[in-house]
Amino acid sequence: MNKILDLIAGELGKGFEQCGYDAQLAKVTLSNRPDLCEYQCNGAMAAAKTYHKAPMVIAADVTEHLKDNACFEEITAVNPGFINIKLSKEFLADYLEQMRHADRLGCDEVEKKETIIIDYGGPNVAKPLHVGHLRSAVIGESIKRIFRFVGNDVIGDVHLGDWGLQMGLIIEELKERKPELVYFDESFTGEYPKEAPFTISELEEIYPCASKKSKENEEFAKKAHDATFKLQNREPGYMALWNHIMNVSVEDLKKNYGRLNVNFELWKKESDAQPYIPDMINAMKAGGFAKESEGALVVDVKEETDTKEVPPCILVKSDGATLYSTTDLATLIEREKLFAPDRVLYVVDKRQEMHFTQVFRCAKKTGIVRPEVSLQFLGFGTMNGKDGKPFKTRDGGTMRLEVLIREISDAVYDKIMENRSVSEDEARQTAQIVGLAALKYGDLSNQASKDYIFDVDRFSSFEGNTGPYILYTIVRIKSIMARYSETFGETGDVKLAPACSESEKALHIELSKFNEVIQSAYTDMAPHRICQYIYGLADAFNRFYHETKILSEEDETHRQQYIKLIELVKDVLCTCIDLLGFEAPDRM
Ligand code: ARG
Repeated sequence: MNKILDLIAGELGKGFEQCGYDAQLAKVTLSNRPDLCEYQCNGAMAAAKTYHKAPMVIAADVTEHLKDNACFEEITAVNPGFINIKLSKEFLADYLEQMRHADRLGCDEVEKKETIIIDYGGPNVAKPLHVGHLRSAVIGESIKRIFRFVGNDVIGDVHLGDWGLQMGLIIEELKERKPELVYFDESFTGEYPKEAPFTISELEEIYPCASKKSKENEEFAKKAHDATFKLQNREPGYMALWNHIMNVSVEDLKKNYGRLNVNFELWKKESDAQPYIPDMINAMKAGGFAKESEGALVVDVKEETDTKEVPPCILVKSDGATLYSTTDLATLIEREKLFAPDRVLYVVDKRQEMHFTQVFRCAKKTGIVRPEVSLQFLGFGTMNGKDGKPFKTRDGGTMRLEVLIREISDAVYDKIMENRSVSEDEARQTAQIVGLAALKYGDLSNQASKDYIFDVDRFSSFEGNTGPYILYTIVRIKSIMARYSETFGETGDVKLAPACSESEKALHIELSKFNEVIQSAYTDMAPHRICQYIYGLADAFNRFYHETKILSEEDETHRQQYIKLIELVKDVLCTCIDLLGFEAPDRM
């Protein structure tokens, strides 16, 4: 379905053309003086230069030709040459009517469907999932849903960190605690036990303990390095332990992501890419891309236009170890082989930007990916506490995701219990749903690349630009609709009526922006645009609601038309929150 702005611009273009000016000049934007008009066109200013006439003369000429156009209620030229536009109420209602019956509420599919891999989440196995990984999961999930909504084939890959030093640390710590375990017996040839020698809580305690120890104790650190090396060379006992670690933590990770309403199509991991590394390195050597530098094997990736230094991409360190970049390159080989994607998007902390610049350039230069594949990095900022420093627990530790979710749903629970009479059970359940919305909306309403302040009180408020406020609006609509059907039964097949009040027209205008907003959220990978939009839409609805008697409207047809209108508001809001990755309860 055409965007409303394009439709208006099309009408204006006709006016420009009739007056002998280029129709392309008729660009239309939302008004920046909403007190005067709804939309505006500044095309007469641009035309003035080309046609050597005063802009006001052009604007007056064009508006004169359009004054009887059925799309406009009012179209006027104002000094020094702006064209101010108010849409006709019939035109708007008709547009919304089409939207109501269109697929995806009038949001067109992309012309060329792409296969897109989104690499997000990126937790490290056996380390507790903390707020650092929250943003990637929340933003990545939303972007995935937006990409999919407009018709692409999208594959979300969690890309587990399972092959690094943390594994060596855990194995070494286990060895100190339980040296008798068969995994450490090099002469053992039997089958290793099926049961893991630890639980998830033990595992979670082991990692921080080992990590601390390695910082204080050089000998232990060295042993952990050796253990990592042995694991990476697939020593059977260590591989068996690695398997246990994987099973125990992946189950826990799935549970945690499930709680967040985040789902991955693929549970690939760094270790899956390792088999591709030897051939990759040989090919890079043979192709003349990889060269020795101070004992390491590197690929130069700087470009003439660089304004800051881009260091070479290191493939193999002088001690023979491969790195994060080596794994990411090999992962791209695997992705090419399995999916041949048109696009690969990484949603990762913005502090990793240089790493991805190096990897992308290296992958392109060495032909790991086809030239037409687009490799994109969406770097997000840090989630800070109220003190403006990276978010911590009260005692200064890293906040675990579970604890964070609990904190926010507790805050919501208190609010629900404060002013409503629902059972504790129901309040708990609702608080889960609303809490998640508070958390996600609090994050997504900020531009991803910016740092933001995590504020439980603000995010869980039922008023203002928050997730709960949006849900509250949806719940309000659901409840009006339920009361309607209890009293009057089903609505007939009525068409939306032209707006009868200022607040209703404002609501119509907000609704009509939907496809435009989704398009821009898609192109710019910007869920915050959707948040901005639904906040405005919820506000417009609530203003309309306070001024309008919906259920007590006496005219039956008109009452039904109101119900159709608020149903459309609900559908748009629900579609949007689904794209953001949360849902609304029936009551709250
Ligand atoms: N595990 C990494 C970390 O915690 C993030 C992984 C991001 N994805 C990637 N392909 N490098 O920092």
